[in-house]
Amino acid sequence: MPPFRHLPVMAEEVVTLLAPERGGLFVDCTIGLGGHAEALLQRGEHARLLGIDRDPEALRVASERLRPFGGRVRLALARFSEVAAALGGDEVDGGILADLGVSSLQLDSATRGFSLQREGPLDMRMGGGEGASDSVDGERDGDGSDERDIESVRGQSISAFDLVNEAP
Ligand SMILES: C[S@@+](CC[C@H](N)C(=O)[O-])C[C@H]1O[C@@H](n2cnc3c(N)ncnc32)[C@H](O)[C@@H]1O
Repeated sequence: MPPFRHLPVMAEEVVTLLAPERGGLFVDCTIGLGGHAEALLQRGEHARLLGIDRDPEALRVASERLRPFGGRVRLALARFSEVAAALGGDEVDGGILADLGVSSLQLDSATRGFSLQREGPLDMRMGGGEGASDSVDGERDGDGSDERDIESVRGQSISAFDLVNEAP
């Protein structure tokens, strides 16, 4: 795979707010292609970084990109809800960044199922586990129409409002 170069959104603002030149440990909860992490580590020569992502492909790209920073970087294949375990007791004295959403690596690929421009399977997995096509396949009514299958799944969705009201 060719090296993936991509410009992170609002990198200057992120670096200004987090001020990595103070040093310390920073956590990037959604490291993606490593653009923000690279900017933080370049600006803060004593900053260290824990980078988390649930997408193994993104972690591979990020680890290649951040290789020049050597031991200042640690990466973990995890969900950001697992950040405490990934930290393993280390204190976050720098700052935390969460750039939520999908990455261009996921959007631009036909095989990941996020692209609106390229034909491909309805996968939509960010990491391992079940993809959207598994859910849709489980609801197939036999006529092979993706649109009908998706509609039948959508009909079962519960609104966020109902979930909040049902919460104990
Ligand atoms: C907008 S991209 C981040 C881009 C990154 N800031 C950069 O500079 O390249 C969002 C990333 O969040 C990851 N992600 C989405 N949900 C996640 C979750 N629950 N836990 C960890 N990572 C997640 C995606 O796999 C994706 O790589």
